[in-house]
Amino acid sequence: MQKILIEGGVALKGEVKASGAKNSSLPLLMATILATGEHCIRNVPNVVDVRTTCSLLRRLGIEVTMSRGVVRANNPGLESYEAPYDLVKTMRASVVCLGPLVGRYGRARVSMPGGCAIGARPIDQHIKGLEKLGAKVSLNHGYVEASARRLTGAKIVLDLPTVTGTENLMMAAALAKGESEIRNAAREPEIVQMAEVLNQMGARIQGAGSESIKIEGVTQLGPADCTVMADRIEVGTLMIAAAITGGDVLLRGARAAHQTALIEKLIEAGVVVGESEHGIRIKGLARPKPVDITTQPYPGFPTDMQAQFMALMVLAKGTSIISEHIFENRFMHVQELKRMGARIKLEGARAVVRGVKKLSGAEVMATDLRASASLVLAGLVAGGRTEIYRVYHLDRGYQKLDKKLRKLGARIRRSKARPPGTIG
Ligand code: EPU
Repeated sequence: MQKILIEGGVALKGEVKASGAKNSSLPLLMATILATGEHCIRNVPNVVDVRTTCSLLRRLGIEVTMSRGVVRANNPGLESYEAPYDLVKTMRASVVCLGPLVGRYGRARVSMPGGCAIGARPIDQHIKGLEKLGAKVSLNHGYVEASARRLTGAKIVLDLPTVTGTENLMMAAALAKGESEIRNAAREPEIVQMAEVLNQMGARIQGAGSESIKIEGVTQLGPADCTVMADRIEVGTLMIAAAITGGDVLLRGARAAHQTALIEKLIEAGVVVGESEHGIRIKGLARPKPVDITTQPYPGFPTDMQAQFMALMVLAKGTSIISEHIFENRFMHVQELKRMGARIKLEGARAVVRGVKKLSGAEVMATDLRASASLVLAGLVAGGRTEIYRVYHLDRGYQKLDKKLRKLGARIRRSKARPPGTIG
């Protein structure tokens, strides 16, 4: 077990490059189920969720190696069609093998993900969509079992624009007989990248990035050869790190087009944001102005940046309202931020944040991936020392965030932590 130690108070300076996107890598890795042969996926972040996905693919019979961000996956034809409980319980995104398994092999047995720290997170839309495509789906002994001879194209209208649901259905429909349309589809940049890669593999997908995705099924796909886009949530987290410390940082290679909602809010808060061919440059000035945010599906303000933005608003000159509309329980960072001196009142799905002049370092507990990032951000600016426990949450989705921050001047390091519950 490790903890992160931060001595706050350094204005970050310099330049840094974000890693490849976790939430793009996971579905692209799952796409290797769709075609036999040698796949190559570059710029894959070395984070726990990626390693879990590689383990899952190996269990299915795909030979996977990862070195310096390059994943090579040799799919000789699968030996198994099952995503077992021991993997799915550690990573919900394991469910994204469901679509490609049924689409390519006509069968899948995937452990049903339970609720998680941030909400109940059902997969009813994934299942409804697969049924529309002709799969028989049942729930037995905690497993979703799906089968079909060959899926047939259909029009699927999602009740809400689920990200992994859209990815699952796009992959399933890619090999279905005839045309499909996914309406009310998720529009995230990760969906667009997934469609581009599937098309390079031989799929016929149009409209990704809009609410209607049209897919003309093909009989066969070839192996993927692609480079994962930069992680927009890591970029956003580093942007706030620069802003909250009053620093001046260039996010090399970052694209403002993927950050519109966040950038608008940062500018409203008084942060200076510039874009050039080199990337995005952030300058934090004095205390931020208070800004209200409401999380929404892309292109709205991302729920994956809510906790980090709250860390910034905790220090604003006034009161801001942060409303969480995607997940019902994504406020676990609030209690920990309060231990550092934040003044936050929770009122159902919204947090009323009364800005304070300064935070003081404290021992705090990370509860989920983005909550951990918000504690790191608060620690960067708090007076004295912050110790963050359970940093394995951070390592699920950020590749060496502490190292990147250290490069920008932050006094941040890791050390051994006793497992929770140990006395003495
Ligand atoms: N939902 C349903 N039924 C479904 C599917 C979703 O009711 O069948 C609900 C969820 O409970 C939630 C909302 O729809 O309230 C949106 O969930 P979505 O399915 O879009 O989330 P996801 O696909 O499970 C992905 C990211 C999350 C990110 C969300 C929202 C991956 C691997 N995960 O999850 O990332 O928060 O989209 O943008 O892409 C993270 O990286 O920290 C993370 C949690």
